[in-house]
Amino acid sequence: MVRPEDTSRVGGPRHYLMCRPTHFAVEYAINPWMDPAVGVDRARAIRQWEGLRELYRSLGHRVSEIEPIEGLPDMVFAANGALVVEGRVYGARFAGAERTPEGPAYLDWFRQAGYTEIKEPKHVNEGEGDFITLDDVILAGTGFRTEAAAHQEAERLLDRPVVTLQLIDPRFYHLDTALFALSGDRVAYYPGAFSEGSRRVLRALYPDALLATEEDAAVLGLNAVCDGENVVIAAEAEALADRLRALGYTVHPVELDELRKAGGGAKCCTLELRDTPLD
Ligand code: ARG
Repeated sequence: MVRPEDTSRVGGPRHYLMCRPTHFAVEYAINPWMDPAVGVDRARAIRQWEGLRELYRSLGHRVSEIEPIEGLPDMVFAANGALVVEGRVYGARFAGAERTPEGPAYLDWFRQAGYTEIKEPKHVNEGEGDFITLDDVILAGTGFRTEAAAHQEAERLLDRPVVTLQLIDPRFYHLDTALFALSGDRVAYYPGAFSEGSRRVLRALYPDALLATEEDAAVLGLNAVCDGENVVIAAEAEALADRLRALGYTVHPVELDELRKAGGGAKCCTLELRDTPLD
């Protein structure tokens, strides 16, 4: 049994799934941020991640946790684990062998948590990393990880229109590194991450979008989490934070630079569970 929640509501508690970076490391390079020669301070990564989790709780959000698995150093990036809309779970199928076992691990979590509408994906997709759910549409990235065929698969399963956006800058290899939702019908994004055609689509859909700069994007400032009122954002994205404050948002800067060594920020660590099984 699931209880539908309205994603468009402003504020209000959210339910997030997170994975403690117990086994975090940079052992391979599958995006330009990752350099296995650069050391990772895992204890510091854990402290930063705990800070993010406690911030969510202090904002009134509920945080569930999935057990981290040894040998899966990127599992902390829970956003990639699935896409959940109205209680339906579209599983992830990772592009590279390094993260492939995470797909079934996240699906197991959903089964155990009592979700019943679960779809094992046919096509490569990296969950909420490449799908951003708004009121009327789901925006979906392709170009580096998620295949466009997965966009259609998600559209059929979730019964919502999915808009394909072409990512062109390898630094912004997941949609959630280039765009975030401020509400159910408002977004912030870095135009340079998208093809000319996709920029046109975004302009048509969101004429009032907040356009971020390359500097904002280069510190993963677009990898932010907004509940409609509060924006949780990389501490280094100061200019973007100021603009968000000017628009009336309450900004919560978070230090996650240890996790950024793997190419992830606040949003990457956070999978939104839209609908909570009754417990
Ligand atoms: N190292 C991870 C990868 O390349 C980082 C994932 C970041 N997640 C995200 N939702 N953008 O897959």
